[in-house]
Formats: sequence, structure tokens, C-alpha cells
Amino acid sequence: MSVETTEALPFDRIGGRAAIRRVVNRFYDLMDSDPAYQALRDLHAPDLGPMRLSLTDFLMGWLGGPRDWFEARPGVCMMKAHNGVVVTADTARQWRDAMARAFADTGVDPGLAGEINQVFGRMTEALRRD
Ligand code: HEM
Repeated sequence: MSVETTEALPFDRIGGRAAIRRVVNRFYDLMDSDPAYQALRDLHAPDLGPMRLSLTDFLMGWLGGPRDWFEARPGVCMMKAHNGVVVTADTARQWRDAMARAFADTGVDPGLAGEINQVFGRMTEALRRD
């Protein structure tokens, strides 16, 4: 027996890769320009270009779309991708705040953004090393 669901994937609800890319670009633009995110910015490499692509493709697969990011990195999980990053309460909060603003600024449905932000809340807390 197969189980059928009529529930749309978050990937489709958000508007596919183009919409995710807009969110991610806004996220890094905010991180790069707003002094409120200085500590978070300082953790990242000077060139944010590679991260703009990596986070877009990670989120694409994570939200139920094409899994290119995961296929290109066999065995790598989101936690492992942060092995060398010392995440604190402060930088975890900055990450969540910039991402919530990026969703709002790019017009993502507030209900969907709220659902995703809740999960990001748990992920960012799990990444803390302080
Ligand atoms: C808790 C707050 C977080 C901080 C402070 C943080 C910081 C970082 C840093 C410094 C890097 C390396 C960037 C570079 O090389 O320039 C990174 C990579 C990455 N982060 Fe985060 N991150 C956080 C949360 C998250 C979350 C919640 C996700 C996913 C939803 C995520 C997804 C990624 C991905 C996909 C990469 C790239 C891995 C790769 O391409 O090798 N991060 N993060």
C-alpha cells in the first residue's frame, strides 16, 4: 500500500530555488552590511560567494528539493559542516535574526517562515559550543 499526501513540499511552497537564492543573498547582504551581525560576519571567510551557493543548495535539498548539495558531499551533515566553527549564544542569535529578516525582506509567506525559523532555532542551539 502506498501512502499519498497532498501536502506540498516546503521547497515548492517557498517558490523553488530562485526564492531560496533570494533569501540566502539577502541573509549574507545583511550579515555583510549590518554591524549588528559583526561577530557572525567575522567567523566567515572574506569572500561570501561560495557560502551564497552552498547555503542555497543545502536549503534546496533540506526543504525537499533537488539534493545536489548532499550528493556532492557524501556523508557530510549540517553539523559536520561546522566542525571548525565555534558558535556561541551570541552568534547563534545573530544567525537566526538575520535569517528571519531575510525571509521577511524577500516576501516569504510568514506562516512558512515561522515554521522554518522554529527548526532553525533548534539547529542553531545544537551548534553552540559555549
Ligand atoms: C548557529 C549559527 C551558525 C553560525 C555561527 C554558522 C557559521 C558558519 C560558518 C563560519 C561557516 C563557514 C563559512 C566560510 O567558510 O566562510 C558555515 C558554513 C555553513 N553553514 Fe553555518 N552557521 C550557523 C548555522 C547554520 C545553519 C542553521 C545552517 C543550515 C540551516 C547552516 C548551514 C551552513 C552550510 C550549508 C555551510 C557550508 C558548508 C560547506 O559548503 O562546506 N549554518 N557556517
